[in-house]
Amino acid sequence: MTTETDHGIGEAVAARVERRWAVLSIAIVGLLVGMATFIGIHRATMPQGRVETADPKTLHVSGEFVESNLGSALEADGSVTVRAVGQQYSFTPQCIVVPADTPITLRATSADVVHGLLIEGTNINTMLVPGYVADLPIRFKAPGEHVMPCQEFCGIGHQGMWGRIKVVDKDSFAKLAAAKRRLTCVD
Ligand code: CUA
Repeated sequence: MTTETDHGIGEAVAARVERRWAVLSIAIVGLLVGMATFIGIHRATMPQGRVETADPKTLHVSGEFVESNLGSALEADGSVTVRAVGQQYSFTPQCIVVPADTPITLRATSADVVHGLLIEGTNINTMLVPGYVADLPIRFKAPGEHVMPCQEFCGIGHQGMWGRIKVVDKDSFAKLAAAKRRLTCVD
């Protein structure tokens, strides 16, 4: 049998439980925001400041991502721009050569489906979305080799989609760049 007082107690308990869950939910949201902020500042990960588009259907025909324009380019200010395309199931160029201790801008897009681009040993990890250009700053402290797997499932050949980054010293890169407009280490 329930009485007036039982109802009163039941309501009080319900209100208390509700308040507890509300506090817990807010705490979880706060924790996630805190984690995102920490990772953003501590690991210097950041979303792109602007959106750039590139039509995947005309990528190979005209514009910045035609095959002859892919690879590493030495800019007038001494920085390097790397342009790459991901497609099922490879990166072009397959091997990217860059100088150590130099500001590098990586610009990449996809010719078909969504791919991922991850450079092992760095915080570079981006999606290559058809129609959009990924633009990321990188800097390598020392010469060496890094593997660059596709980290986004893109079809049956996904696990075979790997590229390489070869970091050489500044002088070797300058010599290579003097001989050729766009550099790769594919041959
Ligand atoms: Cu491309 Cu996975």
